[in-house]
Formats: sequence, C-alpha cells, structure tokens
Amino acid sequence: MFLRRKFLGTTVMSAVALSLASLYGSAYAASTQAAQSGAEWWRNAVIYQVYPRSFADGNGDGMGDMAGITSRLPYLARLGVNAVWLSPFYRSPQTDGGYDVADYRAVDPLFGTLGDFERLLKDAHERSMKVIVDLVPNHTSDEHAWFQTALKSPPGSAERARYIFRDGRGENGELPPNNWQSVFGGQAWSRAPGDKQWYLHLFDSKQPDLNWDNPQVRTEFEDIIRFWLKRGVDGFRVDVAQGLVKASGLPDAEIKRENGILVGPMWDQEGVHEIYRSWRRILNEYPGERMMVAEAVVPTGSRPNYIRPDEMQQAFNFDYLLLEGWDAGKFRKVIDSSMALAATVGAPTTWVTSNHDVVRTASRYGQSKPGHHPRGIGATSEQPDEALGLRRARALALLTQALPGSAYIYQGEELGLPEHTTLEAKYRQDPEFFRNKGKEGIFGRDGCRVPLPWKADAPSLGFGPSDKSWLPQPAAYARYAVDRQEGVSGSTLELYRQILQLRRDYKLGSGQLHWIDAGQDVLAFDNGDLRVLINFGTQDMALPAGGHVLLSSEPLQESGKLPGNTAVWLKRS
Ligand code: NOJ
Repeated sequence: MFLRRKFLGTTVMSAVALSLASLYGSAYAASTQAAQSGAEWWRNAVIYQVYPRSFADGNGDGMGDMAGITSRLPYLARLGVNAVWLSPFYRSPQTDGGYDVADYRAVDPLFGTLGDFERLLKDAHERSMKVIVDLVPNHTSDEHAWFQTALKSPPGSAERARYIFRDGRGENGELPPNNWQSVFGGQAWSRAPGDKQWYLHLFDSKQPDLNWDNPQVRTEFEDIIRFWLKRGVDGFRVDVAQGLVKASGLPDAEIKRENGILVGPMWDQEGVHEIYRSWRRILNEYPGERMMVAEAVVPTGSRPNYIRPDEMQQAFNFDYLLLEGWDAGKFRKVIDSSMALAATVGAPTTWVTSNHDVVRTASRYGQSKPGHHPRGIGATSEQPDEALGLRRARALALLTQALPGSAYIYQGEELGLPEHTTLEAKYRQDPEFFRNKGKEGIFGRDGCRVPLPWKADAPSLGFGPSDKSWLPQPAAYARYAVDRQEGVSGSTLELYRQILQLRRDYKLGSGQLHWIDAGQDVLAFDNGDLRVLINFGTQDMALPAGGHVLLSSEPLQESGKLPGNTAVWLKRS
C-alpha cells in the first residue's frame, strides 16, 4: 500500500514517519534526525555520472581514462556537483563497456592503474567531492578467472556452482534449460563450448550470471566491497540490483513488461534484500556515511523495498526517467508518487533524466513523441528537433534541480548535448545492437556514449590530446563544446552552474515542495523561498506579480510573461 498524491503534505509525512519509526525502530529515527541536522550527504546531493570511456582522454589513445577524469575535476568542482559516480573502470574485455568485469579489484589498463584511481579519489576529496564506484554483482565477464575455471571443470563441480550451469532440455540436451530471454535480445542461455551444459546470462553471452545461492559468491563480494571502502570510496552504484536472485527451479516465463519494466521470475525476488542488508552492515563499519544507490529496475511499488533503512540509501527514480510525454499533469503525478513512495521508508527521492543507457535528454524531448525512449536512434529513425529538445531539456533542468532529494546529472547533460543520431553501424559497439541485428529500430546505446566535446577547434574536440576518439563525434558537437559555452551568458553550461549555485543557496535539496495551481499547462510550486514555474505549453503565460526573477531557462523577452517550453525560478517576496 503506498501513499497517493492527495496525501502528500507535511502532516501526512510525519504520520508516515511515526509509523515507520515503530516498524523500523531506531534506524529510522536516527536517519531522520541525521537528515534534520544536515548529515547524510546523499539525501540531497547532486551526483554527476562519469562514463570513463567518454569523459576525457589523458593519453591520446582515443579512450577516456583516469588521468583525463582527474584533469577535469576542477571543471566538476566549478560546476558545483557534490559527488561523482564512475561507471565501471575495472579490468574487462569491454564487451559491454566495462559492465563485464574480469577482475573487480584491478583498474583496466585502458583507464590507468590503481594508483591513478587513488590520485583521482584524493583529488576529488580535496575538492570536497565524493566518489561513488559501480559494483556489478549480477554477472562477471566470461573472462573472469572463476568462469574460465568453471569451463574447465566438470558438470556438478564446485567451480561450476558459482555460476548457473544446467543441462539442456530435449533428447540430447540440445535445447536451452528454460525459455528465458536476454535483456539484450536472443535467448538467455549459451552452451559452454565443447560441453553438454548451458550457462545463464541475462545480458550478453560474455556476461555469465553468478549464482547468489553460493556462499563463496557472497563472501567474495563482501571482500570486494571492503577492498574499495578501504581505499576510501564513498559509495557504490549497484548494477542490476533486482536480478541477483532467481526464483528457485528457474521456471519458464513469458516476457512481460509493466510500464516498460521487465517482470518475471528472474527479477525482484525477495532474496536480494538479505544481500543488501549484509552489505549495509559492512558500509556501516566504515566512517564517513558510505552509501549505495540501487539500479533496481522494478515496478514502482517495489522500489521502496531497496531503500529501507537497513538496505541501500537511494534508488534511481526510473518513473521519472522513463516518463513519456511533455505534460504538466504527468510530471506532477510522478513527482508526487515518487516522493510519497520514498517517504514510506524515510529515504530521499532521486531525480534522474539521463544515463549511459538511454537516449540523451535533449534528443528525447525533441521527438514527435516527447520523452519517448526508443532503443537508440539511427540515421533511418525520425530525427529529433534539436532546438526544441534543447529548450525543453533546459526547462526540465530547472524543474529537476528544484525538487527536494538527490539529483543526478549524466556527463554532457550540463552542456545540453544531444544524442549522436546518425552513428554508422560500423562504429557501433553496444551488444544490444549486435544481438538485435537486422531488427528495425534497435540501434543500441552508443549514441549517448560519444566522447565529450571540450574544445571546439581542437582535434577530437578536445576529448584528448590526439584526434582519436573511440566513437566518432558528430559535427554538431563543436557547438556544444565546453569552451564555446564557458563564460557565455545564457549557455546551457552557465545555466547549470547558476542552477547548482542557487540550489545550494536556497537549500532546495533538503526543502519541502508545495504545489500551486497555475493552469493546465503549467507546473508551479514553492520550495522554501523559491517559486518554480514551468510552462509546458506553447503560449505565453503571465508570471505572478511580486516575484523577483532569479533564473530562467530562456531569456524573458517580455517582462511579466513566461514563454512556452520555459521555466523560471522566482524569489518569493
Ligand atoms: C545496467 C547498466 O547500466 C548497463 O549499461 C549494462 O549493460 C547492464 N546493467 C548490464 O550490466
């Protein structure tokens, strides 16, 4: 049972708090006290996602790296983010951009060394930024030593028991053990080479799923977590948090989607929660409020289970990310339900509009179906309206960053960067593209992973010191380069800098939201001394009298008027 929008309000929140305190006892009471006293940094942090391959290249090999990231930390500090989340940089054959880990305790030579990572961490900490690293527990790479040993060991051996090996069906075991499908397309089982058994992979065949019923798997990950905590990382982003435990017997199941979310016996099983509770106990042993954020792609009602007081601190808000439509009512509904849901367990809400798995915000909102999530965009797809998408993305930034809770920014979002929408097949690297080859409209995720433009006139647009870039950058990226925006009033980068400055000044992340009814196409609310208005329509609307304009997502040509697809922050008088 979850609270609905009409219940949202201070009084009801305290009632929820009371009942939670009785449910969860001192842990919940302690966490709300900490929130009130300003501790628990993750409750209102702005967290910036770095996709290491594409952020900045220090050595000119065309691949982003630790040295590149470290050299750009002053940029991130100036932007005003509180934390950096690094997508995987561990030793990996890079079949899935590093989400296929061969050694969880080593930095891939592509990105540098452990020493380089430690320098990055120290430098970030000196600039008062936290560092969160990715943890990939659902599967390893097939090049992980455990899987290699498993392949050399007989069926039924202890080495195979760390993964999910099964005999096939059919007279000679020639059919997969069940009918499960990979998230990336095709069947979720591959045959162990030269062998009668099959192994499960919910993603690519080079990403075998671990068996979380095996105590060795649990101990190993506890050790990996400690390895990084000891080095001083501030938290973990937990990949595929809904997938570790599978229903016993691995029953056949038809693929079902509920509001775009996959459901079935391989997802969201009760057993995952004990794992997160054990990890939380480990985190609590270390000083400095270490945290976990769940990438739990689960039906809305299940999300709070991952952020109970003794599990993770945050979960990505997929309802907000996956919202389709450019519609005031829809946004209001999802904001209310997200806050009410998180409040049921005393956790902060997160606000996410982009990441390395989805079409970039500025392109998504420029489609004829705004906000729609295609599986990548290619030259034969409908091409988004770049100007309209950017305009809406800027307005959306003023909405998102004004909401109480923790907000995520995906690298390049602060530049208003669009998707690469015409990337040729020969450059594509995403396994989702290869596993669906030939299927109309499935281009995969490379278009949002293209290296960032730092300098419009430099080779590789300043991504690195050479002209190499692991994915080609579209010509349009020069216009979005950091050096084209820095110091330019009204640029998206300067807009973001102001947004984050005011977010701090007005303590928006730890504030309270109060809706104001302002007409069908408009969202309006107060957060402390700030009034926020977003005009989702196309017609000008009158601004309320008496407020002083602090920031607007577009220049306000006529005073007292808020144009369509524009947002404004007013200081309440
Ligand atoms: C979610 C990650 O964000 C995505 O990039 C990856 O492909 C899958 N998990 C599998 O690890």
